[in-house]
Amino acid sequence: MKFIILLGSLLSLAEACPSSCECTSSTVSCIQKNLQHIPNFNSIQLNPMIIDLSGNKINSITDEDFTFDRNIAIAEIYLNNSEVLDIDGEAFVELENLQELYLGENLLHDIPQNIIEDLPNMILLELSSNLFSGDLPLIKSKSLEVLALANCKISSVPEHALKLTPNLKMLLLQRNNIKYISQSTFTGITRSFALKLFYNKFECSCKTFQLFDFLGEHEYVDKSDPYRCSNTTDTDVDIFDKKIALSFHNICTRSNRIPKIQATSLKSNDLTLRSEKSYSLIQENKVEQHDEGVSSKKEALQNNSDIVEISKKTTYIITLDKNFFEVVVICCVFFLGLFAGFSLNRFVTTYRYIKFKRCSENQMKLYTP
Ligand SMILES: *[C@@H]1O[C@H](CO)[C@@H](O)[C@H](O)[C@H]1NC(C)=O
Ligand SMILES: *[C@@H]1O[C@H](CO)[C@@H](O)[C@H](O)[C@H]1NC(C)=O
Ligand SMILES: *[C@@H]1O[C@H](CO)[C@@H](O)[C@H](O)[C@H]1NC(C)=O
Repeated sequence: MKFIILLGSLLSLAEACPSSCECTSSTVSCIQKNLQHIPNFNSIQLNPMIIDLSGNKINSITDEDFTFDRNIAIAEIYLNNSEVLDIDGEAFVELENLQELYLGENLLHDIPQNIIEDLPNMILLELSSNLFSGDLPLIKSKSLEVLALANCKISSVPEHALKLTPNLKMLLLQRNNIKYISQSTFTGITRSFALKLFYNKFECSCKTFQLFDFLGEHEYVDKSDPYRCSNTTDTDVDIFDKKIALSFHNICTRSNRIPKIQATSLKSNDLTLRSEKSYSLIQENKVEQHDEGVSSKKEALQNNSDIVEISKKTTYIITLDKNFFEVVVICCVFFLGLFAGFSLNRFVTTYRYIKFKRCSENQMKLYTP
């Protein structure tokens, strides 16, 4: 009898999968189980590599949720689409082998900067479709290759943001509210690097065209992605359209606003990512772009009075640039003419005077006895 009980408890220990999850030798799967907390994994006997907690209602991730004994092999954690609001900065600190962390489609307004700082194997951090606004959230990691922050409300990118992730190869920022990124954000990048920035709120200014000249030359952006800027309430301009690019280039270079750009020899096809999954993530993001109608983007732009205000100013500057040259030329011609006329007048007067003088001298000679 005792033996049977012992055997039974041993068997249940070997299972020891949380009641709301399904476990295999490598995976703990608790998808869409209406969980409000991360289950207690303390009794798990295997070393899972993947923990999938997506599609739940887990508001908060604490510093104790992933501190169970058998956490050493965990390489992927799925916490996407789980109403996550709050994450403790130390929540994942023990997971030395963590490579991919999925936190997309949640309710995050911010995220601790050190969330993955001490994890030397992190490759991919998915944070898309959250409630980030204002500055791009800063993430520190020496190993991170892919950072996804698409579809939030991010409006600016701090100039030092990319210095915190020195191995980053792919930054997904499409579908945000970004109006401009300073070129100095990209200084010091010597590796191949790709950036997705379409469906943001770029204004059609010389600054914007200069930025995209730079991003295109370095092959940081894929010119076949739908990059547009807006100058009036009802016109979206295709930034990489050859005609438009050329006309803006002409207008903007007249005042020497575009310095010559030195392209590095790096090509985007050098881009090799350690994780195959991260590659599929990128592809997904690329496919996604086709679903979004241009009309909704236009609508969003129309509703943004800021853009209208700025585009008016831009137009003014551009018109000024165009006419300025002509005004200068006309002025030059005018003054040249004036100078010539004046000189001629002087010459004629002097000539007449000399003639008169000679004439009167002759007359004097005539009358002198
Ligand atoms: C969570 O993210 C993964 C990877 O992007 C995706 O395959 C899965 O469908 C997502 N789960 C939910 C419940 O949205
Ligand atoms: C823009 O404003 C219109 C009405 O003024 C509204 O119906 C529409 O939902 C708004 N669109 C966005 C994207 O905010
Ligand atoms: C806005 O862009 C359109 C499309 O290129 C162009 O035809 C128009 O002249 C621009 N408007 C102004 C005021 O610059």
